[in-house]
Amino acid sequence: MTTILGIETSCDETAAAVVVDGVDVRSNIIASQIDLHRKFGGVVPEIASRAHIEQIDAVIEEALETAACSQADIDAIAVTNRPGLVGALLIGVTAAKTLSWAWGKPLVGINHIEAHACSPSIGLDEPPWPAIGLIASGGHTSLFRINGPTSIRVLGATTDDAAGEAFDKVAAILGLSYPGGPQIERLARQGNAKAVEFPRTMLGPGSLDFSFSGIKTAVLYHVHGHGQTSGGLEKFSRQEIADIAASFQQAVIDVLVRKTMLAVGQTGLGTVVLGGGVASNRALREELASTCDRRDLQFRAADSLYCTDNAAMIAALGYHKLMSGDLSGLDLDAHATGTLPVT
Ligand code: KG4
Ligand code: ZN
Repeated sequence: MTTILGIETSCDETAAAVVVDGVDVRSNIIASQIDLHRKFGGVVPEIASRAHIEQIDAVIEEALETAACSQADIDAIAVTNRPGLVGALLIGVTAAKTLSWAWGKPLVGINHIEAHACSPSIGLDEPPWPAIGLIASGGHTSLFRINGPTSIRVLGATTDDAAGEAFDKVAAILGLSYPGGPQIERLARQGNAKAVEFPRTMLGPGSLDFSFSGIKTAVLYHVHGHGQTSGGLEKFSRQEIADIAASFQQAVIDVLVRKTMLAVGQTGLGTVVLGGGVASNRALREELASTCDRRDLQFRAADSLYCTDNAAMIAALGYHKLMSGDLSGLDLDAHATGTLPVT
């Protein structure tokens, strides 16, 4: 039995978790800062760093207590060190290094995106690999070939806005608060997804890259007119706004599902996994599940607890990296970027 303490502070969640053998989550504590950032319409880096400092000790203590663990039970400490807001990452990295040194336990630096890719395997007895991974979050939208948790290759990635970023920006255009994904999903349930024909940007034939900035602009023009000439939201009824939300959501889902199937066709893999904050969207989960079902593909979405940022996925990947001997030293640093290898 190998027990990992995971720590995550890359953006606006201060999180710590205890996970056994990469699959068995004993605790998953998340202190969200959403209320602090909401009035600014997005994450303010300085506020995020300060809130992480205030929360980190209590969050780690609660993760250990909930898992009924003491320092003696922990085999290694895994921490997100890239990509993310450097000032925010540094808080988690410093806490993890301090514990690693004080407790004499190995330290494992984790790429946040790789951890999202690993998250669908949490809770499974049999790992789902090899698989095509669609990982859609606020900062990234990627298609991966996941040979295993420590062997992930990029097949395609966003060339501009990430899917979650598009949800957040469209939510702002529709007068909804941050973060926009859950708000759009809620509103979309009351809307007609066929009401407005928004573009499905596929880029070149066979391309597995994504572009979501065009659809965001299309929503902006639909609401305000070109050059912001035709007034704003007030000219729409509540039903019409719900229709815009539903049509936007459907266009994003169509692109995500089509590109994922394209990746399946190009690689011949028989399993699809889904993770990242946008993967908490029920309409996306259901549509990808039914598409996979029709094509006789295995499908596994990360449990919604492990879609938006959390430390359980950090500890899960930490286990696999520990097993493969991929450890970090006390010189582990925080990095804003975290590019993964391309196939
Ligand atoms: O993975 P995550 O927590 O943070 C990053 O690593 O970026 O993803 C956050 C993103 C936000 O853009 C948020 O609007 C989006 O995930 N999101 C959703 C939903 N829940 C969160 N997007 C669509 N539908 C949702 N239900
Ligand atoms: Zn994330």
